[in-house]
Amino acid sequence: MKAVFGKTPLELMQGDITQQETEAIVNAANSGLLGGGGVDGAIHRAGGPEIARECAEIRHRQGGCPPGQAVMTTGGKLKARYVIHTVGPIWNGGDEGGDEILRSAYLSSLRLAKARGIRFLAFPSISTGAYGFPVERAAKIALQAIKDFLTTEAPRGEFDKINFVLFSERDFETYKKALQGLV
Ligand code: APR
Repeated sequence: MKAVFGKTPLELMQGDITQQETEAIVNAANSGLLGGGGVDGAIHRAGGPEIARECAEIRHRQGGCPPGQAVMTTGGKLKARYVIHTVGPIWNGGDEGGDEILRSAYLSSLRLAKARGIRFLAFPSISTGAYGFPVERAAKIALQAIKDFLTTEAPRGEFDKINFVLFSERDFETYKKALQGLV
């Protein structure tokens, strides 16, 4: 499913983000940048040890990546040249600012990509796996954040395209419904 926000096409697709041929892919990391399961594990497996090495350098330099912020490493052996690691909120029943942290994770990733001149980027569904964030709620927050960014912080088409890669059919359908509510 496709949409255009500002001057930038956004496409939802079902698949494995490690196969994306975008300039960068976004990883759903933990604040220690220690690697893990889910999409984090898939990216480290497919990208190789170089990614973990650069994560360790960032950890030593600045202690990791706080929730809602983003850092960037090489893509290692991935087709994508870079990985932007962001940390979403752990679902806590809906209070204590989880929605804002999730929105910030998308905005921080987009701002970092723009600052590094990256024009083609792919996102997974942050926080909706091990971190337990409800997919319907996350989809609305994610797509609204991307729409707001593309229309206010990248209005001149600073991005050629944004892909949103959903691993499961169910997530893909949920995000499609959320996108229909935004266009
Ligand atoms: N491509 C795209 N999406 C994927 C892939 C993949 N290869 N593998 C998993 N996903 C999807 C999941 O289906 C889920 O919808 O990524 C989404 C996010 O799930 P997680 O990877 O569990 O991430 P998150 O919920 O943010 O939890 C992060 O889990 O893996 C650890 O180190 C990570 O501690 C961190 C925590």
